[in-house]
Amino acid sequence: MSLLDVKDLRVEFKTQDGYVTAVNDLNFSLERGETLGIVGESGSGKSQTVFAIMGLLAKNGAIKGSAKFEGNEILNLPEKELNKIRAEQIAMIFQDPMTSLNPFMKVSHQLMEVLMLHKGMGKAEAFEESVRMLEAVKIPEARKRITMYPHEFSGGMRQRVMIAMALLCRPKLLIADEPTTALDVTVQAQIMDLLNELKSEFDTSIIMITHDLGVVAGSCDKVLVMYAGRTMEYGKVDEIFYTPSHPYTEGLIKAIPRLDVEGDVLPTIPGNPPNLMKLPPGCPYQDRCHRVTDRCKTESPILTPYENGRLRACFSDVGAW
Ligand SMILES: Nc1ncnc2c1ncn2[C@@H]1O[C@H](COP(=O)(O)OP(=O)(O)OP(=O)(O)O)[C@@H](O)[C@H]1O
Ligand SMILES: [Mg+2]
Repeated sequence: MSLLDVKDLRVEFKTQDGYVTAVNDLNFSLERGETLGIVGESGSGKSQTVFAIMGLLAKNGAIKGSAKFEGNEILNLPEKELNKIRAEQIAMIFQDPMTSLNPFMKVSHQLMEVLMLHKGMGKAEAFEESVRMLEAVKIPEARKRITMYPHEFSGGMRQRVMIAMALLCRPKLLIADEPTTALDVTVQAQIMDLLNELKSEFDTSIIMITHDLGVVAGSCDKVLVMYAGRTMEYGKVDEIFYTPSHPYTEGLIKAIPRLDVEGDVLPTIPGNPPNLMKLPPGCPYQDRCHRVTDRCKTESPILTPYENGRLRACFSDVGAW
């Protein structure tokens, strides 16, 4: 049994102008100890996918499909049951640590509160465990710093505090939604290394969301490439990174920021993602695709098996690339 098994996940938002399908029949699974990367440009549906799983969708959103955690359905669960799962089984870290940290409360109190509430620890035990956790995420002088307020930490250190908080209850699954984009490249790399180390130490599976395929290549086992709410390509990261079979993946690889190339402008894929309310018939990527053919404009490619168990949604003949 997989740790997480997502089937035909669909997220629709009701808006003044009609319905928006932000996540369109997504399928993926995660085994114990595995790291899955979800990659795609802004607006591709990465966050809404995990928000749906965590029960964090906005009020105008509706979910269809299934997400089984250790075999049990977790979509659309009552708030009380969700709260228990969110605290003890699945933890999430966000792009901006301040969304989870209370600026007016010392870090020690915020960490201890979690342990006292969910693990039934007394004050002294919770304090010691919190210090241990800050040491695990490599905060120097943790015992001294734990009594500081969040704003007294640097951005990278705050992100470490967030990771410590997420791991306090030893979750089986950690979902990291662009945990490093607000940080500079060196600090990003340190945080990714830390997550990889902690993964084996705490025996946690990870879903890593990012728009940077380079981050995924260094740290994930599998990758799901998303565009306009759909899967473009899904499979083992090494294969997809080194031999992409979808033109969108090719584009993302070319857009990876490189440390050895000078210049202020980040390479991007020319053009913009389509308006989800006005998707063209055929493939959603057709307008930006450098391998587009007439067929792509009338027929939508479905996700089909490609080499070595990977899946892709494209008609192009990779052999001819
Ligand atoms: N409450 C809402 N009502 C209507 N549309 C929404 C709502 N929330 C999100 N969306 C739309 O859903 C789509 C997917 O959004 P999502 O937040 O999952 O993107 P993302 O891939 O995480 O992007 P980013 O990299 O910018 O975080 C977007 O087009 C967004 O505008
Ligand atoms: Mg997002």
